[in-house]
Amino acid sequence: MTVEIKQSPEGVLTLTLQRADKKNAISLAMYRQLTGALQQAERDAAIKVVVLQGSASCFSSGNDLQDFLSAGDLNANHPTVVFLYQLNAFSKPIIAAVAGLAIGIGTTALLHCDLVYAAPGCRFQMPFSQLGLCPEAASSLLLPQLVGYQRAAQYLLLGEAFNTAQAEAMGLVNQQVASEDLLAFVADKALQLAKLPAAAVQQSKALLRGKIKRQAEKVITVELEVFGALLQGETCQQQLRGFLTKK
Ligand code: COA
Repeated sequence: MTVEIKQSPEGVLTLTLQRADKKNAISLAMYRQLTGALQQAERDAAIKVVVLQGSASCFSSGNDLQDFLSAGDLNANHPTVVFLYQLNAFSKPIIAAVAGLAIGIGTTALLHCDLVYAAPGCRFQMPFSQLGLCPEAASSLLLPQLVGYQRAAQYLLLGEAFNTAQAEAMGLVNQQVASEDLLAFVADKALQLAKLPAAAVQQSKALLRGKIKRQAEKVITVELEVFGALLQGETCQQQLRGFLTKK
C-alpha cells in the first residue's frame, strides 16, 4: 500500500503517503487512492476533516516522473487529472503536515489545503520550467494571488526553491513546527477542527473558497491542455529520461 488511509472515531481521515524509497513520489495508483479517499470523505458525514501528510522527514517529491514519461493523453479519466479536480472541489477542511521535500504537486497541492504546518528547513519547489512543463493544479492562479505576480514568477518560471521560513512569510504555511512534533501537532489541530460544528466549518470553507474554486476549476482545464502538450514534447521527454537514467 502506498497511501495509508485511517479514519478516527472523532471524524479525522488521515492520508499518509508511504513510498519512502521514491521520496513519496505520487504514482498513478496513489492518485487513485487519494481521489477515492476524498470522494469517500465527501460522502461520509462522519468524516469532518482530512489530514494529508508524508512521513516525519519527507512530504513528497511530486508526481512520479516515470509515470510522466508514459503519461499518454491527460484526459478527464487520467488519475492525476481526476485527483486535481477532486482536490479543488473538496468541501471539507484539509490540513497538511509537510516535512523535508515538497516538490511539484507536493507544493501546488498545498494551495488547496486550508491549513498547512511544516517542519523547519523544508524544500518547497515547483521546477516545472526546468522539466519543460508549465504550472498545474491551478497554481498559475492561486500562487500569484497568494504571493504577488513577481514572486510567483520567481517560483513558477525560474523554479527557485524556498524554505519553510519563506513559505511561512508568504502565507503558504501557517506555522513551523519541530519535525518531531509535527504529526502529533497536526493530529491535534485536526481534532480541534473535527469537534467544531461541521456545518459551520464547511459553510465557512465554502464562503472562503467558493469563488476562487470555480475560477481554479477553469484554470486547471487550461493548464492541463498546455501541460499535456509540453509533456509530449521532446524537451520534456529528454529531461525526464535524463532524471530517470542519471543513476
Ligand atoms: N518520481 C519518480 N522517482 C523519484 C522522484 C519522482 N518525482 N523523486 C525521487 N525519485 C526516486 C529517485 O529516482 C530515486 O530512486 P532510485 O533509488 O530507484 O534511484 C529515489 O527516489 C531517491 O531519490 P534521489 O534523487 O536519489 O534522492 P535525493 O535526496 O538525492 O533527491 C529529489 C531528492 C526530490 C531532490 C530528487 O529526487 C528530485 O529532484 N526528484 C524529482 C522531483 C521532481 O522533479 N518532481 C516533479 C515535479 S513536477
